[in-house]
Amino acid sequence: MVNGELVLEGLTKTYGDHAAVDRLDLRVEAGEFFSILGPSGCGKSTTLKIVGGFVSPTSGRVFIDGNDVTCLPPNRRSVNTVFQNYALFPFLTVRQNVAFGLRRARVGKRELIRRVDEVLELVQLSTFGHRNPSELSGGQQQRVALARALVLRPDVLLLDEPLSALDAKMRRQLQVELKELHREVGTTFVYITHDQEEAMTMSDRIAVLQNGRLEQVGAPSEVYERPQTLFVTQFMGISNMLHATVLPANAGWVARIGDAEFAMAGSPPVSGTVQLSIRPERVRLGGAGSAGALSGVIVDVSYVGAATHYRVAFEAGMTLQAAVPNDGVHSVRNIGERVSVDLSPEDFRLIGEQQLAEAPANDTDVVSVG
Ligand SMILES: Nc1ncnc2c1ncn2[C@@H]1O[C@H](COP(=O)(O)OP(=O)(O)OP(=O)(O)O)[C@@H](O)[C@H]1O
Ligand SMILES: [Mg+2]
Repeated sequence: MVNGELVLEGLTKTYGDHAAVDRLDLRVEAGEFFSILGPSGCGKSTTLKIVGGFVSPTSGRVFIDGNDVTCLPPNRRSVNTVFQNYALFPFLTVRQNVAFGLRRARVGKRELIRRVDEVLELVQLSTFGHRNPSELSGGQQQRVALARALVLRPDVLLLDEPLSALDAKMRRQLQVELKELHREVGTTFVYITHDQEEAMTMSDRIAVLQNGRLEQVGAPSEVYERPQTLFVTQFMGISNMLHATVLPANAGWVARIGDAEFAMAGSPPVSGTVQLSIRPERVRLGGAGSAGALSGVIVDVSYVGAATHYRVAFEAGMTLQAAVPNDGVHSVRNIGERVSVDLSPEDFRLIGEQQLAEAPANDTDVVSVG
């Protein structure tokens, strides 16, 4: 049996009358690279501290491989944590830092040497064993912190924004290394980040948290392509938000946006107006004369390397963002140019009516329709 299945059941932590974690249910499969993603203060670290045994929950339970560990102290759980600020012992060498936990666990000398060698090789620091942490770069220090946690062979490794102190380049390099490391050791990784791109690049699955509550859990493509709430839609990259009028039809329903009508599949929404989202990469631009659904004018152009982002304004006061790949096939456009905008109904996501009610009136990030 592969170890490392983690289950959270109704996990809640309140401070005063504020719920830092609010009735959280999660199942992380053994061996998974699982990310917890959400904005600052949403309860990510609190969740991890509860799993690690450093904070006890107000209610709810934590299971590792089917065993209730809610009341066990940290050292009796097969879990290790890598914190954001490495927390290496400055007066010990790299080897001594890595061996520290093994010494405490009274692992024999030969076994200890073998395991420290093995893990230093794994994090590519074999030749750095005799240095002090102060003689290492940030990225190297972070790798020592990883080695120190991995050498104890936990079933579950918890990582609380371990790369956030590093510069962008080092961060990307360690993202790749961490993924490779995960494949090699096969341990369950629970990784905290507030960076949606990082979560998408690294994870098998992502849990999106807001205000201590689970918004959605799924594979990166699921969470990105089929966000179930307004919050997830907006948190997972840029989204165009459109207000549409619901019209009846023989099959499905019709969404009217400005002057254009789109035949939508599925049962019609209850309310007369709904909010739809569409990703910028699904907004296609045609020429001035081509038969697009909507006609607008380019009001802003931003070049971002692999793509160019265009903001298109329409007569009704609505704007849409389009991301067009810089592939030499799509033509480059300028501010003031009139374009037709082609949208496919299957690219629209209907934001649930309940989430609509919860959303503040002015939080549409790209679009406002009069
Ligand atoms: N010991 C504590 N006492 C009181 N409130 C706390 C305590 N620890 C955390 N909180 C509160 O609980 C909420 C969640 O905090 P937490 O550290 O889990 O957030 P986070 O998602 O990790 O944020 P960040 O991305 O900024 O690290 C915050 O509102 C925080 O102020
Ligand atoms: Mg945190």
